[in-house]
Amino acid sequence: MPQHSAIHLKDYTPYPFTVSAVHLTVELDPTQTKVTARSSFRRNPAAENQQAALELDGEHLELVSVALDGRRLAAEEYIFADGTLRIEAVPEQFELEIATRIAPASNTALEGLYLSSGNYCTQCEAEGFRRITCWPDRPDVMAVFTVTVIGPQASCPVLLSNGNLIEQGQFDDGRHFATWHDPFPKPSYLFALVAGQLVRIEDSFTTMSGREVSLHIYVEERNRDKCAHAMQSLKKAMRWDEEVFGREYDLDTYMIVAVDDFNMGAMENKGLNVFNSKYVLAQPETATDSDYEGIEAVIAHEYFHNWTGNRITCRDWFQLSLKEGLTVFRDQEFSADMGSRAVQRIQDANYIRNIQFREDSGPTAHPVRPASYVEINNFYTATVYNKGAEVIRMLHTLLGAAGFRKGMDLYFQRHDGQAVTCEDFVQAMQDANGFDLSQFQLWYNQAGTPSLRVSQEYDVADQDYVLTVSQSCPATPGQVEKQPFFMPVRIGLLDSSGKDIRDEVLLLDQETKEFRFTGIAAKPVLSFNRSFAAPVKVESDLQDEELAFLMAHDRDPFNRWDAGQQLGLRCLLQGIADWQQGRAAMLPELFQQAFARLLADEESDPAFPALALVLPAEGWISQQLAVIDPEAVFIVRQGFRSQLRQRHQAELLARYQQLSSAAPYCYSGDEAGRRSLRNCCLAYLSAAAPGEVVAADLLDLAVNQYRQADNMTDAAAALAVVVNADRAAGDALLAEFYAKWQHDPLVVDKRLILQATCSLPGTLQRVRELLLHPAFSMKNPNKVRSLIGAFGGNLRQFHAPDGSGYAFLADCVAELDPMNPQAAARLLTPLTQWKRYDADRQQLMRRTLEQIAALPGLSRDVSEVMAKSLQ
Ligand code: TRP
Ligand code: ZN
Repeated sequence: MPQHSAIHLKDYTPYPFTVSAVHLTVELDPTQTKVTARSSFRRNPAAENQQAALELDGEHLELVSVALDGRRLAAEEYIFADGTLRIEAVPEQFELEIATRIAPASNTALEGLYLSSGNYCTQCEAEGFRRITCWPDRPDVMAVFTVTVIGPQASCPVLLSNGNLIEQGQFDDGRHFATWHDPFPKPSYLFALVAGQLVRIEDSFTTMSGREVSLHIYVEERNRDKCAHAMQSLKKAMRWDEEVFGREYDLDTYMIVAVDDFNMGAMENKGLNVFNSKYVLAQPETATDSDYEGIEAVIAHEYFHNWTGNRITCRDWFQLSLKEGLTVFRDQEFSADMGSRAVQRIQDANYIRNIQFREDSGPTAHPVRPASYVEINNFYTATVYNKGAEVIRMLHTLLGAAGFRKGMDLYFQRHDGQAVTCEDFVQAMQDANGFDLSQFQLWYNQAGTPSLRVSQEYDVADQDYVLTVSQSCPATPGQVEKQPFFMPVRIGLLDSSGKDIRDEVLLLDQETKEFRFTGIAAKPVLSFNRSFAAPVKVESDLQDEELAFLMAHDRDPFNRWDAGQQLGLRCLLQGIADWQQGRAAMLPELFQQAFARLLADEESDPAFPALALVLPAEGWISQQLAVIDPEAVFIVRQGFRSQLRQRHQAELLARYQQLSSAAPYCYSGDEAGRRSLRNCCLAYLSAAAPGEVVAADLLDLAVNQYRQADNMTDAAAALAVVVNADRAAGDALLAEFYAKWQHDPLVVDKRLILQATCSLPGTLQRVRELLLHPAFSMKNPNKVRSLIGAFGGNLRQFHAPDGSGYAFLADCVAELDPMNPQAAARLLTPLTQWKRYDADRQQLMRRTLEQIAALPGLSRDVSEVMAKSLQ
């Protein structure tokens, strides 16, 4: 395996030069795009070495010429090797002109300038700009960009870049040009260029100070009528950021472009966001409620970056969470305000526990601010994004909404226009509030999931209630000893009627701390870590009956949901132990009754029971096991679902029918909640233990729902039920589905996901066939995620005892890595967890990893994950 060297946070030094402005000229051509960059350099007075050579980053490009102050340099006057262009001696101040040639048509990595559906687009974060021209490609070098895009009028009627259009015109040879100017100095990762045949959807927004901003969404003609929801979401986000954070948009135009080939969700390029079309396009017939939610959240996320990311950016990539954690927090709060705060919190906490906690417990665990990396693309993780957001949320809890806002205001006031660190952010929060956050900073530097142990003592005579909380944090790679974190823990104490007698935020700042409550008339029921205020695991000493009590009464919706999850988890773990010892796994009566109560609850927003009725996820169950036993987890969980169906079939059916609606589809929080509870009932009605046959009339319910649905939410939910219940019926319906939707790539992705996640035997065979199907392409990350990525999350079939799932993944990684290393490295995630499985699977997984590691020419991305996993 090639050895790639790591970059360390402690080695940071300022760049020896500043660049005030750059003029880029890009002459588009699929195989011969010519890029000229003219820039003004000057020595950086803040740099340590005032004699330093000029070094620029440049990769995957052909260097055509270099000119300094108008004089073309001879070949021996510079060195261009190993990704660096080096000019030994340069004056105090100079103009540099660099010409490069690139081939967007053969760019399958989707970094830099590439083609998607025949249109040009760019992706420069984190280090893609160096694939366009030679440049100090680091976020603390900020310049004013002027960009002239030149392309054929016929195939590229639209020519876009950041900022404002200042000039356009025609050439005699059929080409035309557009010149864009972005007045805000920016790092190269925020540069963007788009060109091609696109239509423009227009709207406008009046900012709080009365400025009119044009809003433009660019899509391919066939998608023209799928942009309304994205546009609405954008306007809501713009208003919300004004109302909640006092942040106004700063350019005259805001542009969004949707492309089909994109490595991630979307990109916040200044004034010109580029989006994965999955997060723009929606129509009731093609997008589900959760697609609508995702669009609203991602549109908002990228918009919010304009202040948290663009106006104030990162000093270096170790500070990625400075913009990502903060912006995820902002988009979560926005979504909570647009829909149900309770549902949002449950979903976000669930994601942390299922995805981020797993990352924390494996070989790629890292702090919110990593200390080193080999490939920065490997650090766009749940830890940096979602745990980073939890860390910001703790500040919000500690300081209160008003205190948090004061801190944000100070942060913007101090650092607007700068490239800063996570400390700078926390310092602003501290200074604005006079609140000591020095211990809090540990959240940025220590990896791992803290675990809290809670014990209670109640003294009837003194009416004293004492809560003792201890924290610990397991060792993570490179970090054995951990210091205690500083965290807010919100708790409630309930009396026997379920009323709150206390609701407080406790501050835990030591390894063990006692909290005494006086005047407590009777032993209360403890609701611990309300709203998941601290992103931790909790070992509580609650009785099953107390959990059932909290499920029914807790005022905090997160804990009401979590009590059910905890109770469900206990039942599942017992069931798994029973099954492993050859006994029947039976769902206890206490849980059956709690389930019945939730099903009968007609007062709550239906979105709540829709979440609470779902048994703990396979991933969350697996995390609790010393050795993951995929069969046991799957079989027992499915068995319990079947037992719930048998016991509550009549009620499930009644609720299902009661929740149906004759009204045409409309996306709203209420309607989405209704549909999700109804589809949850539908799924239970077909729930079967492995091998058990689903009754024909129950399966028909799903088939009929599929046929009658006027929207993708109900159609896809019904289809998923059939696909997982009966292979023949599922195949037939999938064929129908594909025939109807084969022209729509985002809907085809849904088909791939359904097939890849099917828990029935024979799935791998079908996934292999789909690799060869015209609907699949290894070059399209959405397809790769939907088929291969989704299969990696299929607990039952991916972990088949013969290792066939692992071998399949290895084949895919081998094929994908040379094309798109970023996507290939992500596919490896399930294999990185190999130490969590039984000895046989460990051996199979390890051998698969070793085979991948032995491949020639492995990318930095995949090598880094391999090296960590095999350590
Ligand atoms: N900054 C983007 C976001 O948070 C993330 C992103 C988009 C990205 N495309 C990428 C990161 C490519 C790395 C590589 O919305
Ligand atoms: Zn982001």
